[in-house]
Amino acid sequence: MNVPVNSSSVTNTRDWATLEKHAAQLRATTLRELFADQPGRASDMTYDVGPLRVDLSKNLIDDNALRTLTDVARDMGIEEYRQALFNGEHVNVTEDRAALHTALRIPAEHEFSVDGQDIAADVHDVLGRMRDFARSLRSGAWRGISNHTIKNVVNIGIGGSDLGPCMAARALRPYLTAGIIPHFISNIDPNDVAGTLDGLDAESTLFVVASKSFTTSETLANAHAAKRWLLKELSQEGIATESEEDIQAITEKHFVAVSTNEEKVREFGIDPRNMFGFWDWVGGRYSVDSAIGLSLMAAIGPQDFMEFLEGFHAVDDHFRTEPLEMNVPVIMGLLGVWYTNFFGAQSHAVLPYNQDLHRFPAYLQQLTMESNGKSVRLDGSEVDLNTGEIYWGEAGTNGQHAFFQLLHQGTHLIPTDFIGFINSHDDKKAADGETSMHDMLMSNFFAQTRVLAFGKTAEELREEGVDEKLIPHKVMPGNRPSTTILAEKLRPRILGALIALYEHITFVQGVVWGINSFDQWGVELGKKQANELLASVEGKESSDAGDSSTDALITYYRSLRDK
Ligand code: F6P
Repeated sequence: MNVPVNSSSVTNTRDWATLEKHAAQLRATTLRELFADQPGRASDMTYDVGPLRVDLSKNLIDDNALRTLTDVARDMGIEEYRQALFNGEHVNVTEDRAALHTALRIPAEHEFSVDGQDIAADVHDVLGRMRDFARSLRSGAWRGISNHTIKNVVNIGIGGSDLGPCMAARALRPYLTAGIIPHFISNIDPNDVAGTLDGLDAESTLFVVASKSFTTSETLANAHAAKRWLLKELSQEGIATESEEDIQAITEKHFVAVSTNEEKVREFGIDPRNMFGFWDWVGGRYSVDSAIGLSLMAAIGPQDFMEFLEGFHAVDDHFRTEPLEMNVPVIMGLLGVWYTNFFGAQSHAVLPYNQDLHRFPAYLQQLTMESNGKSVRLDGSEVDLNTGEIYWGEAGTNGQHAFFQLLHQGTHLIPTDFIGFINSHDDKKAADGETSMHDMLMSNFFAQTRVLAFGKTAEELREEGVDEKLIPHKVMPGNRPSTTILAEKLRPRILGALIALYEHITFVQGVVWGINSFDQWGVELGKKQANELLASVEGKESSDAGDSSTDALITYYRSLRDK
């Protein structure tokens, strides 16, 4: 990598101490005051990023603090790192790899090569194969073993090989236009495979085994379980026997793979002609726009998938070219740093006011927390401040009837992102037969950020004649920060833009905290120990985990396990 690896903490940058001062000032002011002092605050702090309108004005920040934050980011080398990211330099230093997800959405007419390799051509070659495959499924040209067309596409994968396509297929429900129903199996819990396959018609079901490594135990177990299910169902119908020949024929017609590991795909029995590749420079949690999106493309169609990629690209362009002070992913990333390191925020809520986006918080959890849940810097030295925002959330208005009480009156400061849409794909009339349900949803959306920001004072309650005893209980402190993201409609392009926005927010925070957002060593030990414990969990040997708690738990588990 041409950019220097920062061996010094962000806390040593020139302006970090100035940020402390700004934060002290802002903690002593209120959003009411900030709005009163700056009449143009909303328009000054509202930006368009691709198809998204982002209003940052209800954040506990002012121009001075924002400028200082961007200076700090500059000192941490954000501009150089951003360039390195887009150039395909090895920003993932611990794995010595590029993190080139931005290349996955380069328009076909653009040229992009790294070390003499024509990356743009490679990407579009795979996209072309994906399109052909998706078209053949959607048109009915691809047939199962008994000549049935495919109606169910079951993606088997986990983590980045599941969350992206699953979240996006739910989000783009109105675009499922060819009668192909996407399903997702991820968990090693047998209930997942059972619950998903129960009731599916084997003859019209195709499995996409999605795994970058093709060694992930959950995915392989589920893929084998799916193969056995197919065989059983088809044998019961008298369509296939358990002969090697039939198994091969079934696998050929009912399984495709998405992976970087051709050898393992072959071992599973999938012909490499039915494999869709990607590259080691695509991280799992950054892969929904690679061939990992195959099940999504099959369901929504190639054209909408290409629009999805355009949305990513629009935000990439903004992030790559806008000056830091006007750059929305930069500002949003820095706001996360601001609240985490200066306001003691312990989590960040994402609240999509669209039921179809209900998996978006889960998707963001992997994106942001697997990326930035790190406690050493790039050079291996320990960080000296909190890193990694804890993302969580729920679709509005369900969240309002669950945890919003704590957002409004609790003791934690929780920055929130409200994501809403101007139009709905499926508007309906409310109880009176006239009012739009979508307008009702959106009036909740607007009301919540207003109440969070401006609250209600004791004086205002008194003026309303509220009983004095209840006033402390009813005071709404306000001053709770939120960002509002509005877009026209939950279209493929807009979803792509939203994902890219958070990808870049994550990157910005990683650079400022000086950590590697692209590795995930922390998930390895648990996987390894699960393998080591399996024999004692199965009862093949007595438990000798090395600690009395685990041994006792496994012994108890064995004692009650069904024989
Ligand atoms: O959870 C660890 C992880 O490596 C993720 O980063 C990745 O998305 C997931 O496992 C699945 O990996 P694969 O696509 O190789 O099966």
